[in-house]
Amino acid sequence: MLSKITVVGAGHVGATTAQRLAEASLAREVVMVDIVEGIPQGKALDLYESAPVVGFDTRLIGSNNYDESADSDVVVITAGIPRKPGMSRDDLLATNAGIVRSVSEEVRSRCPNAIVIVVSNPLDAMCYVAKETTGFDTSRVCGMAGILDTARYRSFIAERLDVSVEDIQALVLGGHGDTMVPLVSYTTISGIPLSQFLGRADVDALIERTRDGGAEIVRHLKKGSAYYAPSAAVAQMVEAIALDKKRILPCAAWLDGEYGFSGIYLGVPCKLGRRGVEEILEVDLTEEERSALQVSAGHVKETLERLSSLN
Ligand code: NAI
Ligand code: 2OP
Repeated sequence: MLSKITVVGAGHVGATTAQRLAEASLAREVVMVDIVEGIPQGKALDLYESAPVVGFDTRLIGSNNYDESADSDVVVITAGIPRKPGMSRDDLLATNAGIVRSVSEEVRSRCPNAIVIVVSNPLDAMCYVAKETTGFDTSRVCGMAGILDTARYRSFIAERLDVSVEDIQALVLGGHGDTMVPLVSYTTISGIPLSQFLGRADVDALIERTRDGGAEIVRHLKKGSAYYAPSAAVAQMVEAIALDKKRILPCAAWLDGEYGFSGIYLGVPCKLGRRGVEEILEVDLTEEERSALQVSAGHVKETLERLSSLN
């Protein structure tokens, strides 16, 4: 169990993440920080009052400043604005870059040893902002997206084939956007390749739905974006770190030559443990997957160029 986890942003993703972390007893304290007065305090108290019923001893603390977050082991950054129908994740760039920068400055001074998990969008660019601002080793700054994108892909396959989600193994790599890369060559149903169940047109339809997965939820909700599946994905990352599980999970990680890319965050399979991203695994890709990853990395680079032109 960790001593303290701070979740910055007590909105939809932040609050549901705090709930999942407390219910899994991953830390003695979970601190929620938000700029809106009363929101983190009220949600923290409400969550703590569920403890006797649910059965956890994690203390929940809400605050509008960072005093309570001091020396957190893990900081999850969900602060920022979510998209509305018709917006892309990239439309959030300027606003969320300013927010993530200011949050990361606090993290640098208050939580110098923390592992930072970025959630705010556009994800890969916001990881870059957090890395640059904190100056932390890149093993300690990563982003959540791949687990979510893979979970969507897995759930759509399970639904299509009418089998348990537990039996779908898959991997979605690349940037968290329309260019993400579901790896068909690594998609199996209890080890049996997906191609033995579905033809190419059906697989393509599932890939398209996965790429559009975030927007599909936005179209339903109209006023915000997904948070149940995103918070579950964050909790899985925190669990891997807290329990030093050495899980292999797709995360946004800083690339320094891996897969032929450098100087960007991109979704790749990572070994996650108590030291953060302990290893990036380079898996064989088909020609088609490699060129799709190239396109996705190109998109992330363009977003970073737009980011630097804003500064
Ligand atoms: P939300 O609007 O419900 O919550 C965001 C919270 O951030 C608000 O409570 C707001 O007051 C707070 N906030 C804004 N500026 C802040 C600051 N400077 N310091 C502290 N708190 C601040 O939004 P939601 O749905 O929780 O989404 C949060 C972010 O996560 C969005 O950017 C969204 O696009 C992103 N997201 C990313 C996912 C991923 O896969 N990486 C999945 C789901 C959401
Ligand atoms: C999603 O994919 C909003 O990026 C978030 O749901």
